[in-house]
Amino acid sequence: MKLSLGVFCLLGVLIPGRIGLRSQYVGDQVLRVLPQTSENVKQLQQLCDTLLLDLWKPLLSEDIQAGEELHVRVPASSLQELKGSLNQHLISYEVLIRDVQEQLDSSMPRKGGSHWRVPEGYSYTVYHPMEEIYHWMYQIKESNSELVTQHSLGMTYENRSMYYLKISQPSNKAKKIIWMDCGIHAREWISPAFCQWFVKEILQNYKTDPKIKSFLQNLDVYILPVLNIDGYIYSWTTERLWRKSRSAHVNGTCFGTDLNRNFNGSWGSIGASHNCSSLTFCGTGPESEPETKAVARFIEERKSDVLCFLTIHSYGQYILTPYGYKTDLASNHQDLVEAAEKAAVALKEKHGTNFTVGPTSLVLYKNSGSSRDWAHMIGIPFSYTFELRDKGAYGFILPPDQIQPTCEETTTAVMTIIEYVNQKYFPNSAVAVTSGSLWLWLIVLFTRILS
Ligand SMILES: *[C@@H]1O[C@H](CO)[C@@H](O)[C@H](O)[C@H]1NC(C)=O
Ligand SMILES: *[C@@H]1O[C@H](CO)[C@@H](O)[C@H](O)[C@H]1NC(C)=O
Ligand SMILES: *[C@@H]1O[C@H](CO)[C@@H](O)[C@H](O)[C@H]1NC(C)=O
Ligand SMILES: *[C@@H]1O[C@H](CO)[C@@H](O)[C@H](O)[C@H]1NC(C)=O
Ligand SMILES: *[C@@H]1O[C@H](CO)[C@@H](O)[C@H](O)[C@H]1NC(C)=O
Repeated sequence: MKLSLGVFCLLGVLIPGRIGLRSQYVGDQVLRVLPQTSENVKQLQQLCDTLLLDLWKPLLSEDIQAGEELHVRVPASSLQELKGSLNQHLISYEVLIRDVQEQLDSSMPRKGGSHWRVPEGYSYTVYHPMEEIYHWMYQIKESNSELVTQHSLGMTYENRSMYYLKISQPSNKAKKIIWMDCGIHAREWISPAFCQWFVKEILQNYKTDPKIKSFLQNLDVYILPVLNIDGYIYSWTTERLWRKSRSAHVNGTCFGTDLNRNFNGSWGSIGASHNCSSLTFCGTGPESEPETKAVARFIEERKSDVLCFLTIHSYGQYILTPYGYKTDLASNHQDLVEAAEKAAVALKEKHGTNFTVGPTSLVLYKNSGSSRDWAHMIGIPFSYTFELRDKGAYGFILPPDQIQPTCEETTTAVMTIIEYVNQKYFPNSAVAVTSGSLWLWLIVLFTRILS
């Protein structure tokens, strides 16, 4: 503990100093725009393309549709021109974020803020830079060695280790696998925060919560807290709203690949760009990026054991099922949707948050090369993308005071899906029967026999 306090004091001094450096979004705004006609759509597409705007929803101007709202970050220098054009074409809009830089500054940990000196050395309700997440992983496996081990999956483009945590109850029995990755897109900071929260929840509760006890008898949980480590670090040091990895293209004039367009699932066919300056650049080939390859190799080697593949993103409030690249439904579509709908109901019970469930291509937009589609295509039955809070009020700049409620509700949803999978594949693994729950158990049993 002395060591950890020392490290945190050191980080506390060093990191906020660096945080103050960035201010490239002063006066930028995020607008919500509602095109009504196909004429509006064309006008908006042209504006976004010529002004090179950072589209937040949808990501590609070709996906703009009449009647569907669009969220876009507009640099201060283009605001007047854009608003002028919108007014001229009678396209309605409203300002979601009045000053992007101000919003960013207020979501950063404050220098000398209390979280740097929490006795346990870690706060789950602030965003953490990568050095702290590395340190957190080390601490977690050191202090929970009966359940958690840490392993390397491979290296990133900039040669950083991609560690995952394996949560596994010791047993002689062969177990199946639940996979969860966070942080494939750099700016979606709530995602790594959730992976950390989820690990904490299991560790805090596995001895007492009968549901967790039950699934850990059959399932190991593998968690990769930050998939796109290079991009995540870049979003802390240089460009908060960076999305992609950091690989160099076109002789180092163009950076980053959208790792969630780089998997070998109908790669490069739709909803992805082959231009490396695009936010959705799909790379130079399927698995061209070391991060993608590391995940794909790892999962492929274990694919007959992986029952569930979860990848956590923000924002939009969706639980998305395959497929993204085509409108055909997955062969086990009914099961996928049933589990996800249960999860969405449980999620809503927590804080009233609405999530939409359905196939990506039908409820969101078409995209190819996603890890979710790829995982399902190689035979993993339960494959989902979660898009966490919110629906655009803060978008990628979700304030830290929403970390806790977001993680609480998402934990409930993910637990619900894992329980569903556990019940489906291990129908006889009763929740530990105590005299208190015996009657309930018998009733459930009889209902099942009768139905
Ligand atoms: C990563 O390490 C390899 C082997 O040492 C080296 O060739 C490569 O240049 C490194 N990449 C970066 C981006 O530093
Ligand atoms: C990259 O550099 C090489 C060598 O200078 C050159 O031949 C090539 O055309 C460049 N490629 C691009 C895409 O600019
Ligand atoms: C991608 O999938 C196709 C079809 O299954 C396969 O032929 C190809 O070798 C795969 N490519 C990579 C890079 O794994
Ligand atoms: C890629 O996109 C950039 C920015 O939109 C554009 O300037 C460039 O011409 C495009 N490159 C190609 C090869 O289309
Ligand atoms: C959730 O969705 C339902 C139905 O679409 C709607 O009536 C309700 O107002 C929504 N709740 C919130 C909190 O947005």
